[in-house]
Amino acid sequence: METQTSINTFPITCKVNAKGHLTIGGCDSLELVKTYGSPLYLIDKETLIYNASSYINSLKKHYPNHLILYASKAFTNTAIFKIINNLGLGIDVVSGGEIFTALSANFNKKNIYFHGNNKSEDEIKYALTNDIGTIVLDNFYELELLQKISKELNKTIEIIIRLTPGIECHTHDYIKTGHLDSKFGFDLEYLDDVLKSIKTKGDNLRLKGLHAHIGSQIFELKPYTDTIEILLEKFSYIKQKYNIELTELNVGGGIGISYIKEDDPISIDDWARVTSETIEKACKKYNLLLPKLIGEPGRSIIGSSGVTLYTVGSSKQVPNGRKYISIDGGMADNPRPITYNAKYTAVVANKMNHTDLEIVTIAGRYCETGDILIRDITLPKLSPKDIIAVSNTGAYNYSMSSNYNMVPRPACVLVSNGQSEIIIERETYSDLIAKHK
Ligand SMILES: Cc1ncc(COP(=O)(O)O)c(C=O)c1O
Repeated sequence: METQTSINTFPITCKVNAKGHLTIGGCDSLELVKTYGSPLYLIDKETLIYNASSYINSLKKHYPNHLILYASKAFTNTAIFKIINNLGLGIDVVSGGEIFTALSANFNKKNIYFHGNNKSEDEIKYALTNDIGTIVLDNFYELELLQKISKELNKTIEIIIRLTPGIECHTHDYIKTGHLDSKFGFDLEYLDDVLKSIKTKGDNLRLKGLHAHIGSQIFELKPYTDTIEILLEKFSYIKQKYNIELTELNVGGGIGISYIKEDDPISIDDWARVTSETIEKACKKYNLLLPKLIGEPGRSIIGSSGVTLYTVGSSKQVPNGRKYISIDGGMADNPRPITYNAKYTAVVANKMNHTDLEIVTIAGRYCETGDILIRDITLPKLSPKDIIAVSNTGAYNYSMSSNYNMVPRPACVLVSNGQSEIIIERETYSDLIAKHK
């Protein structure tokens, strides 16, 4: 029979201690559950810093004129923001709430980029009043709002235009299409209309670049190089036709991570090297000055630093069918499996050396048949109170969590060098009704 999945997909500090328990950031996972309860989100500080620093170190080498923005939607939390801010990254935000959190973590306002396909008037006013560095222009309605509000507030705004370059990425492949069926950004054929409107009515708008985010959990370099080619061809077009020399090229985020052993993501260093080479080549071809390169990774910074610990409860054997093992969490703390059919890896944290294995399906506790966290995984034989550790839960888990079934959200603990620190308190029943009238 197969052995229990290895800890390759877990944070870089994960080990097995003499008791046969999984340790993370030098902390015994069972002790963490005893102290902080279950389920429990963990963030391994060393892995987080390693991932974020990989972007900075690789680009220092390959393309010094750069700015990496952490895509804050992946995990929005003040303590995490402070760590990322200290490393010198900027931040991509998509709402007034994310702006507020970024300001609370003292990000340099110049390095905050405000995205979104339906920014409200209030959010735009909030961004402008707080001198948020760059607005990523998404659509014509927003362009009108920006023109109006910037005049009312007498503010000059730096903007970049979000384009949909007709590149569609799935996890393992991508296609180029003439027009991308996406709610985000401008189709390339509307670029002239946008530029004319900025030129005639956008006195307070300073256009400095173009943006494209082509997808998430991307495993190939080619979609990035094609995107850069398309955007820099537009840089050249804008220079010739409108006499505007753009200075920022924002290639979005999207680098994939290894949720399961079959996932084979590109390395951050390869991404930085190939991206840089492609920009240099295209700028030579179009006779452009090298722009500042902006990237917006989320998942590849925070994803692999996260682990969620769950406690096993009931089980059910379907006659001649699956064995379901139920845990104390599920779709409300990790909505990715039910939303995207996302795959995860798990180990049994208190039975790391056990060899008596079986194939089980890990079921969530929520009232949805589809609330299945992992289907058909080989694990040591499970009993109630065993602790299951799921890897790669740092991105789009806590930030997409809910209180479905009125279950309080778990606590989140930062672990490092044998120390643990609460960065999000566990919610209580009172929290659940705090806003009810
Ligand atoms: C505009 C934009 N930038 C960056 C990201 C981050 O993507 P990822 O977490 O895959 O790196 C997203 C994710 O949806 C996005 O929409």
